[in-house]
Amino acid sequence: MLNEKVEKAINAQINAEFWSAYLYLSMSMHFANKGYSGIANWFMIQFKEEQDHATIFMNYVNSRDGKVTLEPIAAVDTEWESPLAAFKATLAHEQKVTALINNIYTVATEEHDYATQNMLQWFIKEQVEEEDTARGYIDALEKIGDNGYGLYMLDKELAARTYTTPSPLAANA
Ligand code: FEO
Repeated sequence: MLNEKVEKAINAQINAEFWSAYLYLSMSMHFANKGYSGIANWFMIQFKEEQDHATIFMNYVNSRDGKVTLEPIAAVDTEWESPLAAFKATLAHEQKVTALINNIYTVATEEHDYATQNMLQWFIKEQVEEEDTARGYIDALEKIGDNGYGLYMLDKELAARTYTTPSPLAANA
């Protein structure tokens, strides 16, 4: 049986993951509208990954005989002044998600819930990658500045990103 405090923290995280998905879907639609099909593709894959993150948490709650409670998803921004602004918003958001994951880990530790601590290891590693990736594109976009050809090439690079099922879900497939 899942500890009540841990269950509450994970349910809040499920909502945060769906909010993240909605944020990245909004970014994808914004950049599709602005003619950046590669950036739109990159954020569309982020959208799928965030839904996967929520699914991993939901599967986990069910596997521990807990109850998933889905709450409303809050509104997200719909406009970004540039690709750089969107990737800066992405990094800031992922840093908040990292703090939320760390907080669940703290609750699980206090409640002596070792299985949840173990499950969270994958997310702790994933957050390092998420932040690092966003930081990488911020660096690239700062170098590119207003150079149209640079933006065109980066957009082409992001068009090549393909979706991969996260390992905790692939293992259950
Ligand atoms: Fe679900 Fe981008 O962290």
